[in-house]
Amino acid sequence: MDIEAIRAEALTCTKCRLAETRTQVVWADGNLDSEVCIIGEAPGFNEDKQGIPFVGAAGQLLDKLLGEIELDRSQAAVVNVIKCRPPGNRVPQTYEIEACRPYLSAQLNHMRPDVIITLGNFATKFILDSPIGITRARGQVYSRKGASIVPTFHPAAALRGGRFGGISTIDAMREDFQLVRNVLDERRAKREAEAAEAADRSEQLDLFG
Ligand code: URA
Repeated sequence: MDIEAIRAEALTCTKCRLAETRTQVVWADGNLDSEVCIIGEAPGFNEDKQGIPFVGAAGQLLDKLLGEIELDRSQAAVVNVIKCRPPGNRVPQTYEIEACRPYLSAQLNHMRPDVIITLGNFATKFILDSPIGITRARGQVYSRKGASIVPTFHPAAALRGGRFGGISTIDAMREDFQLVRNVLDERRAKREAEAAEAADRSEQLDLFG
């Protein structure tokens, strides 16, 4: 099934109880054909009303951090692990997570992104399939199925303020976004070098052909 068909299916999903309380399914924002996928937890109040992930204050901070590494939502997809708002923003339950898993899998299989940014504890543990919390997991790049995973704090945590290991949460996020920039630059340089090498090889074949 192509991604549009899966999206259409998701928009009317009733696989878990969140269907009874949501205003609408929040599928994705940004570009599902780009190299970067940003993954949050679940829609909040504003997202549920507007049908778009990260539209509240946390979303504005996310856009600012993206801008600082010269990216915007046309160059990144923004999605959540859970596509419907849990009432009162409670933690998603196991059966809700499992019911929703195929939608994020379909998005990632479609994208095959170079970089996945996980925002906060929930998305990080889900994607790394590890109990390690965000405070320990962040600041490093992990490799999973050909993608570089960069965990960072949830922007809502940065909005609450607070410090972490001598720096503010927002500056820790800035460091993590710089890792994203570095990975993207390295991957692009590698692709360009490979393309140049392939061009050289075909020129040589022409020469001797
Ligand atoms: N927090 C999330 O994790 N996702 C959103 O879409 C909004 C807030």
